[in-house]
Amino acid sequence: MTETLTIKTPDDWHLHLRDGAMLRAVAPETARHFGRAIIMPNLVPPVVTGQEAAAYRDRILAALPEGSRFTPLMTLYLTEDTDPEDLAQAHDEGLITAVKLYPAGATTNSASGVTNFDKVRPVLEKMAEIGCPLCVHGEVVDSDIDIFDREAVFIERVLDPIRRATPGLRVVMEHITTMQGVEYASEGGPELGATITTHHLVINRNHILAGGIKPHYYCLPVAKREEHRLALRRAATSGDPTFFLGTDSAPHTDANKLLPCGCAGCFTATNTLSILAEVFEQEDALDRLESFASLNGPKFYRLPANEGTLTLTKGAPVEYPTQIETGDGPVTVFDPMMPLHWRVES
Ligand code: DOR
Ligand code: ZN
Repeated sequence: MTETLTIKTPDDWHLHLRDGAMLRAVAPETARHFGRAIIMPNLVPPVVTGQEAAAYRDRILAALPEGSRFTPLMTLYLTEDTDPEDLAQAHDEGLITAVKLYPAGATTNSASGVTNFDKVRPVLEKMAEIGCPLCVHGEVVDSDIDIFDREAVFIERVLDPIRRATPGLRVVMEHITTMQGVEYASEGGPELGATITTHHLVINRNHILAGGIKPHYYCLPVAKREEHRLALRRAATSGDPTFFLGTDSAPHTDANKLLPCGCAGCFTATNTLSILAEVFEQEDALDRLESFASLNGPKFYRLPANEGTLTLTKGAPVEYPTQIETGDGPVTVFDPMMPLHWRVES
């Protein structure tokens, strides 16, 4: 008997599509399986105004295959100069779904992010008032804080104070990587959500560093100890509506990954759903994949779940490309180091 699993069409609540040739190559990889995605604004230069978000959305739509029904959900990049009124207008007009907070210097193209959190206070207050969610890259950047502790310290020193000072602000802790992240999110009530990536359910820090350095497993926040990976797997498969999928699929060309100072990011758009099905099956939680990938995210964002469905069929190991070609050069697809038996039916 063939085993199949049908779920509502999933969404990706954290995605990097880039621009230009890279956008044209990677957009179809996500659009093939997902209904919607929250699009990260960390272009160079970043997407900071409603007008820029609208123009970027149009470039994304133009990069989609003929007949695609994929909907990009746009975000603005929060800077210390963000105008609360421009933001409110863009939200009002339905141009943006959320705003992204990068602590300055935390990750790829985050130089325009926030250093002084007091400066963005009026913007955060406006967002609380209009119900616009804040997506947070939760890592401190202080050079004296160990990179493996940056998420836990951020929660204590930055996130918790912001949330206490801004009642009603709806926050997504993005790509959580620690048990501290899981714990804080699960106790945060309905105003707090957390995304978990596909790759953080698969790799721990040994996979990056033991037996030779593996640049394709390097991303930010960096993968932590095994006990943290296990906490993420429990959270993702728990059915708790706090947790939902945000792949953080982040394409970089191999030329930019394989450098003395290589870029952070794992490109998982191509095989994410097959990996997730494998992980959920390993955790004996296939019946909760739909909550994680298709239901909990829309619930947090106060959007309806997608109308369509996606079917996965179990069988011989799925074949997928090890790289995809882009106009900028090849991008390596995330290698989950295990055969994947769940194929997405077209
Ligand atoms: O690994 C990452 N890559 N983490 C981020 O926060 C940014 C992303 C990117 O844009 O490449
Ligand atoms: Zn990201």
